[in-house]
Amino acid sequence: MAQAVSVVEVSARIERAATLEELKDIRTEWVGKKGRLTEEMKILGKLSPDQRRTRGAELNQVREAILSALNAREEVLKDRAERQVLETERVDLTLPGREPISGLLHPLTRVRRRIEDIMLRMGYSLAYGPQIDSEWYNFEALNMPADHPARDMQDSFFVDVPGLVLRTHTSPVQIRSMQRHQGRLPVKITAPGLAYRRDDDATHVPVFQQVEGLVVDRNISLGNLLGTLKMLIHELLGENVGTRFRPSYFPFTEPSVEMDVACAACGGDGCRVCKDTGWVEVLGSGVVHPTVLKSGGFNPDEVSGFAFGLGIDRIAMRLFGLDDLRLLYQNDLRYLARFQSGQGGSLS
Ligand code: DAH
Repeated sequence: MAQAVSVVEVSARIERAATLEELKDIRTEWVGKKGRLTEEMKILGKLSPDQRRTRGAELNQVREAILSALNAREEVLKDRAERQVLETERVDLTLPGREPISGLLHPLTRVRRRIEDIMLRMGYSLAYGPQIDSEWYNFEALNMPADHPARDMQDSFFVDVPGLVLRTHTSPVQIRSMQRHQGRLPVKITAPGLAYRRDDDATHVPVFQQVEGLVVDRNISLGNLLGTLKMLIHELLGENVGTRFRPSYFPFTEPSVEMDVACAACGGDGCRVCKDTGWVEVLGSGVVHPTVLKSGGFNPDEVSGFAFGLGIDRIAMRLFGLDDLRLLYQNDLRYLARFQSGQGGSLS
């Protein structure tokens, strides 16, 4: 028996084993719990002490030899399997990659940031206020008492809580900023943000963006306002764009002025976009009304100010040559992506 268990023969089988499974079978067959060698060892106890010693030593040697052959072969097979995996799962680094979709800023965000940039360079600080504000900040403080007809111009969204309204313009931030200054001069702020009105057509959406500007100091005049606005608009739309000021009316300014720019669609000749006037309105402004200064905690006998508010959407329509503002709010990426610099939009 024992030497019939030819180590040479088993070793040869082990060497021939082509897979780890095959090797495992051989291991079970010989040195497993019920393996042939194991069984041989179990009957050692039945032999005489002398026989047991020699036979035991022999079997141990055989066992050692088989185990080391098994282990050596296992190494080889494992190694081979690993290399095969590496081979079949090889990554072709020369394949072209998938182009990542890169995010882009919304065109209105880019216009807003550009305006903020110009304002910051002119020395203004950014200021913010709540989008749900009190009627007092939105109307009364701005010289629009409850029965004032100008309230009708700003068809409002009221909320369930009495006295609160979705702000109809960014002008209430004027009052909040003056209050925050507690009488300290100068106040020089710009307030970008959302405003809400019950409007909805090609050039008006119910949620829109404005940028407010306010300067309060000693001896601020209409001249300061006009110079500032010219600078802002020329920085924004180009040195050569034609501009004009028109007298207007706002409850919170006296005098009040509206600024127009030459129509981009017809160059000033008159067309559908400018309703045949050659001009498009871009902002409202004026010298701050004494009542408004008082609401903000300033004495109109000592200080004066100017203010203006412009619609970001209007500026964007002009910069991008749009005739329907609503498209900018539908968030269709295929449409918005056209305003990446160099494609469709002129804003760098
Ligand atoms: N709040 C005005 C509006 O939404 C715009 C405006 C006009 C703001 C004149 C001003 C201003 O600060 O002085 O129509």
